[in-house]
Amino acid sequence: MKNAIGVILGIALFAWLFSLCSPAGVNKTGHEYMPDMYHPVSYEANVYSAYYWNHWEGKGTFTKAQLSQPRKKVEGTIPRGYTAVYYGDAAALDVVRGKNASNAIAAQVNGQAPFYYANNEEDRLLCEQEMVQNPFPITTKGLEKAKALYEVNCGICHGEKGDGQGWLVAQPDSKYPAQPKNMIADDMVAAGNGRYYFAIMYGKNVMGGYSDKLSFEERWQVIHYIRGLQAKSKTLEYNEKANTLSNVEVPAKGVATGPARVQAPPPPPAPPVK
Ligand code: HEC
Repeated sequence: MKNAIGVILGIALFAWLFSLCSPAGVNKTGHEYMPDMYHPVSYEANVYSAYYWNHWEGKGTFTKAQLSQPRKKVEGTIPRGYTAVYYGDAAALDVVRGKNASNAIAAQVNGQAPFYYANNEEDRLLCEQEMVQNPFPITTKGLEKAKALYEVNCGICHGEKGDGQGWLVAQPDSKYPAQPKNMIADDMVAAGNGRYYFAIMYGKNVMGGYSDKLSFEERWQVIHYIRGLQAKSKTLEYNEKANTLSNVEVPAKGVATGPARVQAPPPPPAPPVK
């Protein structure tokens, strides 16, 4: 009798111990004896990855939010299928978009382009000096698309004509605290493209950044559109066939014959180290 009780208790104990090792499911890590390397230390997309063994640091090093997906991409990297290369002319761009080539994979020219400038005055000037060329040629299509983008995102402050008299500031009882930059004033006509790109990425003072609203291509098309407004205010041409505003941006089917754009002054020397 004593033996039988012992056997039954032994079996029950064994079954109980065994039941502790629950199997791993799709989104469950399960419990297991000695879990090292049974599951890869990797993150799964779009699930909370709070698996207790998924980190080598102490408990509580990471918050649940940090362990959750989707995660931000590693800084400076470009996801597969996204690109930000200079493609010269409109025909080359079509190939990148999967047109005109039987084996082309459309790579979206989108907002994942790396941007190496920090949000400070020194880098702002450096960006203006270095980002000279608009990587996209001037096209009718691009300007059309950018008109809507400009009017929705920028025109409310900078004005439909670019004169800094957008509805938000020009309305009778406006509460907007600052004067949006007049885009058609001479200093902005002379300003390099990098100054615009930088302003879109980071904003300036009370203006917020628009890097999350406009993709890589959209930013550059909006800059084209602003150049177009500048040309219009001076009755110059800025379109697919001709650019008489500057010698910088290239029309898709023509040449840029405007005056040389004034380069930004060199950044001020670094303060002496004390
Ligand atoms: C809510 C109002 C507002 C919107 C919307 C807005 N801006 Fe601005 N922007 C401003 C103000 C105000 C300034 C002046 C900031 C300063 O110099 O203090 C400014 C300045 C700028 C400058 C000059 C930066 C410099 O280096 O001096 C550029 C370029 C610019 N904006 C581009 C844009 C573009 C492009 C968009 C749309 C994607 C946009 N802004 C949307 C308010 C706005």
